[in-house]
Amino acid sequence: MAFVTRQFMRSVSSSSTASASAKKIIVKHVTVIGGGLMGAGIAQVAAATGHTVVLVDQTEDILAKSKKGIEESLRKVAKKKFAENLKAGDEFVEKTLSTIATSTDAASVVHSTDLVVEAIVENLKVKNELFKRLDKFAAEHTIFASNTSSLQITSIANATTRQDRFAGLHFFNPVPVMKLVEVIKTPMTSQKTFESLVDFSKALGKHPVSCKGLLASLWASEKGFWNSHHPHYSPSQSNCMAGPD
Ligand SMILES: NC(=O)c1ccc[n+]([C@@H]2O[C@H](COP(=O)([O-])OP(=O)(O)OC[C@H]3O[C@@H](n4cnc5c(N)ncnc54)[C@H](O)[C@@H]3O)[C@@H](O)[C@H]2O)c1
Repeated sequence: MAFVTRQFMRSVSSSSTASASAKKIIVKHVTVIGGGLMGAGIAQVAAATGHTVVLVDQTEDILAKSKKGIEESLRKVAKKKFAENLKAGDEFVEKTLSTIATSTDAASVVHSTDLVVEAIVENLKVKNELFKRLDKFAAEHTIFASNTSSLQITSIANATTRQDRFAGLHFFNPVPVMKLVEVIKTPMTSQKTFESLVDFSKALGKHPVSCKGLLASLWASEKGFWNSHHPHYSPSQSNCMAGPD
């Protein structure tokens, strides 16, 4: 079957060389741009797993709505996770929320962040404008990642001067529930960047799979195998997903 003939996506093994590991960035501080459906979910799981987060969107109103949504989602998580200890559940919610700051000015908050995850409107021009601007303000070591579902990562990375520190990080909806994360490497993405994003995804409790150039989910969607926004898709399937010619 086509799914098993060529391994376009493969499970990310933990057998990275020690020398490569030594150079990896340990992501502690994350800036999430876009507080909509995906960005709010990404901010939530990053905060819930011990990262400090700044969530950025265009207006305070959107951010307030976004934070309210995160709180509601966290309360659901707490209800299950701390069913026997409601006080611990409340503490988990409060502690997680306290690590999410908000801002309407991305450029002013990226100077000390380890990772920028972009989850804004699916428009190449708008994404390029954003990253071009952030490239001037972000720290030298900062990794940029886009959550795009349909755009080529290379064409977004090309708006910056840090193509080696640029990759795709494709989460699935709903982010707090879906385990799969596609880490998309372009020809310019460094191994260090790739491995740092794999480690970050694992730190979120996700199952990262590697992709080269094109999202396997997009490819599969184009072939009619599935709809990337309504995936009934498991890591085991993705491990043997065949790639495009
Ligand atoms: N919805 C999904 O199921 C899904 C799944 C995987 C990936 N994605 C991708 O994630 C990205 C976001 O999708 P979404 O569904 O969360 O969209 P959304 O419309 O819910 O949220 C986008 C947010 O970005 C904000 N925004 C727009 N331009 C901005 C800018 N310049 N600066 C700061 N904030 C800005 C908007 O105000 C909005 O709150 C898209 O690239 C999409 O392709 C979506």
